[in-house]
Amino acid sequence: MKKRILLGVISGLIAGGGLAGCGEQKMAEGAKTEDTNAASVNAAWPQLSSPITKDPAIEARIDELLARMTVEEKVGQMVQVEIRTATPEDVKQYHIGSILNGGGSFPNDNKHATVADWVALADEYYKASVDTSDGGVGIPMIWGTDAVHGHNNVIGATLFPHNIALGATQNPELMRQIGAATAAEVRATGIDWIFAPTLAVVRDDRWGRTYESYAEDPQVVYNYAGKLVEGLQGSADTEERLQGKHVIGTAKHWLADGGTENGIDRGDAVMSEEELVKIHAQGYFSAIEAGVQSVMASFSSWNGEKMHGHKYLMTDVLKDRLGFDGFVVGDWAGHQFVNGCSTDSCPQAINAGLDMFMAPDPSWKALFANTVAQAKSGEISAERLDDAVRRILRVKMRSGLFEAGLPSERANAGDESLIGAPAHRAIARQAVRESLVLLKNNDGLLPLARDQRVLVAGDGADNIGKQSGGWSITWQGTGNQNSDFPGATSVFGGIAEVVESAGGTVELSVDGNFEQKPDVAIVVFGEDPYAEMQGDIANLDYNGDADLALLQRLKAQGIPVVSLFITGRPLWTNPEINASDAFAVIWQPGTEGGGVADVLFRKVSGEVNHDFTGKLTFSWPNDAQPIVRNPGENEALAQFSYGYGLGYEDNVQVAVLSEESGLIESDGNEALAVFNGRAMDPWSLQVTDAGNNQSVISSSVTRLQGISVQSVDRKVQEDSRRLRWTGEGNAIAGFFANSRTDLSAYLGNQGALMFDVKVDSAPSDAVSLGMYCGQDCGAEQSITDVLQSAAPGEWKTVTVDLQCLAAGGAKMDMVLSPFYVRTAGSLDVTVHDIRIASKADADINCG
Ligand code: BGC
Ligand code: BGC
Repeated sequence: MKKRILLGVISGLIAGGGLAGCGEQKMAEGAKTEDTNAASVNAAWPQLSSPITKDPAIEARIDELLARMTVEEKVGQMVQVEIRTATPEDVKQYHIGSILNGGGSFPNDNKHATVADWVALADEYYKASVDTSDGGVGIPMIWGTDAVHGHNNVIGATLFPHNIALGATQNPELMRQIGAATAAEVRATGIDWIFAPTLAVVRDDRWGRTYESYAEDPQVVYNYAGKLVEGLQGSADTEERLQGKHVIGTAKHWLADGGTENGIDRGDAVMSEEELVKIHAQGYFSAIEAGVQSVMASFSSWNGEKMHGHKYLMTDVLKDRLGFDGFVVGDWAGHQFVNGCSTDSCPQAINAGLDMFMAPDPSWKALFANTVAQAKSGEISAERLDDAVRRILRVKMRSGLFEAGLPSERANAGDESLIGAPAHRAIARQAVRESLVLLKNNDGLLPLARDQRVLVAGDGADNIGKQSGGWSITWQGTGNQNSDFPGATSVFGGIAEVVESAGGTVELSVDGNFEQKPDVAIVVFGEDPYAEMQGDIANLDYNGDADLALLQRLKAQGIPVVSLFITGRPLWTNPEINASDAFAVIWQPGTEGGGVADVLFRKVSGEVNHDFTGKLTFSWPNDAQPIVRNPGENEALAQFSYGYGLGYEDNVQVAVLSEESGLIESDGNEALAVFNGRAMDPWSLQVTDAGNNQSVISSSVTRLQGISVQSVDRKVQEDSRRLRWTGEGNAIAGFFANSRTDLSAYLGNQGALMFDVKVDSAPSDAVSLGMYCGQDCGAEQSITDVLQSAAPGEWKTVTVDLQCLAAGGAKMDMVLSPFYVRTAGSLDVTVHDIRIASKADADINCG
């Protein structure tokens, strides 16, 4: 039986593996004055001041409230629940202080929920939160949502280009307008708080969240973050800061989410503290200086330690040194990955400085109960509890929540005219125009005259879901139709309007077949939508064989070809560029596709309408091999450097580019050793014990909770590992890496995962053999029967068909763990010689 894994517990292993040291700690510049934490915090971190200062009246009011609150009420403020797993009645009963809707989560599970539905639901939760019929204090809840490029869960909202495109505009002032427009649309639905901006500074573009990043240059992220926060929350000169049409913003994901090794989502950022300060923290500096009121902890780790449990970075640095006096919220049950934690218990995170758990799954009730018990027992101190609650109440009071009343009665609530308002769409369209980056324009093909016969081809031409990318109505941005975006304009729609208004003709044909030979072909193609986890890739190759064939076919017919490339990151596209006369990167423009035609076509008079002004804030690769980007470095590996982008005045001919991908393809003939007496590079033997503690096994005998590992001899000294599970709970042992291995050649070559095993004590419960490729990526295969039927004490070889694991969800080109074993029962086995082989006769097949 194959089984798709959804096992949160194993993802921690990846980050748990990076145990590199902190590196150089001395830095040139830093805090100037005496600091209470000077002894413990690296001096490179600046002391910052927020324009939203502490108000003694608010602090006194918090004191008064805290004095009346029970432990249960306090913990309730610290648990954020999700609208799919907690009802208004739950909010009342557990004194819950906050709710969220995740990506693709809507009132009544209705994708087409109306503005009125959103507001009505906000009312219900609000009423439940302020209910004092049980004699409690009744504190109004805040609702947080991922409005990461506009109010992206709401039908009809303005969707702005994703952050990578905004970086290309080089226009920080525009961020303020985008923030304000987004906030207004969010307020219309009765929601108070936004989980944006993402301040990642991406180092490795294989990361599936690269598009949520403004730039590979921390300076750009610094320049943008504060402006966006001011737009969302309002600035000092705003009458209603945090109120009215403004919301509470969140700087995320603290810290170095964009710096994980090999671009692995939720992975480990292995780097010095200096790099944290100089690269990854820059956006937070300007966000705090603009008054951001919440910060979200990252799923990722720094040098092997999970951010959700990182006291030094959350408390000593962020709160004490940087002076952040708002609250830190967790990320989607991210506390479970802290050593020793689970979804339903993690005092470690609170003690490290997390103020609010994001607890979206049904285990939130147990989390609440356990946290109450830990607060009562003193495992979480009274000071820490009060500090966490104080921070949450401070932000609630600053945003006027205690006086705001029912969501539906607040200014702007229910105002449908704000959703997709023409003024907001105009800002988005401007952002689209300014974000387009022209890589090639040979013989000055662009700008185009309007009165021509234009063929518009490619699967991105009339596809608003595709042009919007991830976090668009649904979480991954998949499964949408154009009808899910009322009021939006596709790239084709914009072109048709311009051309037809001037007497030209347009023909839309996805496959590029036409009725009448066109004067010019515009082909819109590129990446399909994705979001976190699912968007990670193994290399930078754009796998667009069909698109390339289409471009070449059109060119062969003598038709000038303009390529418009939809993408969330730089990808190696030299073959596609060679097959195009002009090539522009349009990123993921969102709902206002008309901005593309604004730039592509001349005015009727023949003059340039809008020039291309976008510049690359991520360098564009010259082959498909991953490169780690640092500003100013690796320029030799860029086909188009950081800052590149042609305008119509530029007279540049791009010569034929190299079509060597740089990828070495294994033929999958030679067996690949995973464990051969020692763990083969890049893997190490790692264990997650029954207490969810992760460790890299580096000694010959290791006893952990519910599992032990010992080096033993079969043919030669210590050529095997004995793995013993005691049955105390789910525990995993396996070979994990911080980099990906491509096993796809084996898949096509009758490949199998093979290992020798000796069973000394048969399993008492189900045993799974797994392959892992990232959070929610991988497959498990039952080996219970194989182990149960094995003759005790005798060696046998087990051979598992790779097809089974691939069919179960393991992506063979990006494997992080080729082999792990998981059971909650007792088991005593010894393993030897683990390898990936080809032309194997598998004894575990699926089908
Ligand atoms: C993401 C966050 C997001 C949260 C709520 C997480 O998985 O990492 O960016 O805010 O989910 O949807
Ligand atoms: C949920 C989304 C959420 C995401 C966060 C998904 O499983 O469906 O709503 O935003 O997880 O990781």
